[in-house]
Amino acid sequence: MLYGQAVGNLVHNALKYTPDSVCVTVKAYRDGDGRVAVAVSDTGTGIREEDQARLFEAFYRVPQREGDPDRPKGSGIGLALVKAIAEAHGGEVCVESTFGEGSTFTITTPLRRPSDV
Ligand SMILES: Nc1ncnc2c1ncn2[C@@H]1O[C@H](COP(=O)(O)OP(=O)(O)OP(=O)(O)O)[C@@H](O)[C@H]1O
Ligand SMILES: [Mg+2]
Repeated sequence: MLYGQAVGNLVHNALKYTPDSVCVTVKAYRDGDGRVAVAVSDTGTGIREEDQARLFEAFYRVPQREGDPDRPKGSGIGLALVKAIAEAHGGEVCVESTFGEGSTFTITTPLRRPSDV
């Protein structure tokens, strides 16, 4: 799977977990350490802090708690693949999320110039 597919996976999740999705944004920028960051943000369901630690494990899906709206179906593999791809590029993926407000997933990788390849 390619880097672009990793970003596509995050966009897919952002749309999937944002009911009535009005706005999903993708930003690319150089972070403070000069690395390349691509951040995908949504205004969806968000993820409770206690559920964030295991998100990138293969086949892990956040449990549906009493009172939560029904969750879309899935196999829980998407974020594990995103993590594997980010790491294959020498980078990482992280999440910032507030339950009920939305989430931002960011892939950060070293900047590679053509002369580095
Ligand atoms: N943008 C998001 N907003 C809220 N929850 C999310 C978001 N992205 C992922 N999650 C939570 O993280 C879990 C793992 O995501 P992941 O993409 O790995 O699996 P999935 O979407 O359930 O299935 P699939 O394998 O089809 O991608 C999801 O089940 C969901 O609970
Ligand atoms: Mg997914």
